[in-house]
Amino acid sequence: MSVYEPGELIYEGKAKKLFSIPGQPDLLFQEYKDSLTAFNAQKKGSFEEKGALNREICALLFDELERNSVLTHRIQEIPPNAIVTRKLKMVKLELVVRNILAGSTAKKFGFEEGTPLDAPLVEFYYKDDALADPFVSDEQAIMLKTARDRAELDALRAFGLKINAVLVPYLLKAGIRLIDFKVEVGYDKDGVLRLADEISPDTCRLWDAKTGEKMDKDRFRRDLGGIAEAYRGVRDRLRQAGGK
Ligand code: ADP
Ligand code: TMP
Ligand code: ASP
Repeated sequence: MSVYEPGELIYEGKAKKLFSIPGQPDLLFQEYKDSLTAFNAQKKGSFEEKGALNREICALLFDELERNSVLTHRIQEIPPNAIVTRKLKMVKLELVVRNILAGSTAKKFGFEEGTPLDAPLVEFYYKDDALADPFVSDEQAIMLKTARDRAELDALRAFGLKINAVLVPYLLKAGIRLIDFKVEVGYDKDGVLRLADEISPDTCRLWDAKTGEKMDKDRFRRDLGGIAEAYRGVRDRLRQAGGK
């Protein structure tokens, strides 16, 4: 049994509950929920085991990232659906990395979904639910004090690209193309930048490398059905590819 037990609920978000841990002020107990939302929570749903699936998928991806020297917030996995993490000072930006154009950026510039990019594209979005997480330029990110200066934004970009460089070949071994993803990052008490939150089919676009079939939250956003099967498929492929 884990030495970590959840204390008080300090925050409930769209996909996770955050608890304090008695006697551990620098740590958080994060519980993955079975619910899922889209379009800034205007659309709501859930399926059984979703929290456990995302916890395990994220654990397998964090394993590979940590093997490749990417620092994460993880302290201990608490199966089936929780994780103990460091409590970070979060950067108020969402980092989106794209390999293939899909979703909002494809729509914004009139590209067909599935258009390959010459090089990965990193974008910053201001993390603010009330504003529906708008895209921000470097200057806007600095104006909003989400980053001190361009050097910090460049370091965040490099961090996003490193995560991408590790995950693209790893997922491909499992027969999955990483189209794009969102990550959140923060600083630990020593000021070290770490990957936070989660990486899962909620926060990535994952397409079957052979058929192009979607294996991520777009199945829910676009009412395609088969969402539980898709998430289970990602978990099973990562397990089989030797993730565990
Ligand atoms: P949201 O808040 O967007 O609805 P979640 O339901 O996934 O998302 O809630 C998790 C919350 O915890 C997010 O707001 C995220 O920024 C924050 N978070 C994730 N990891 C950490 C961490 N290590 N330290 C502090 N906050 C974190
Ligand atoms: P987008 O194409 O809608 O901008 O999404 C880019 C990627 O970011 C995609 O993999 C889904 C993920 N994402 C989140 O994780 N949270 C969000 O709030 C949004 C809008 C996207
Ligand atoms: N993460 C957002 C929400 O939960 C938007 C999305 O993923 O589509 O509403």
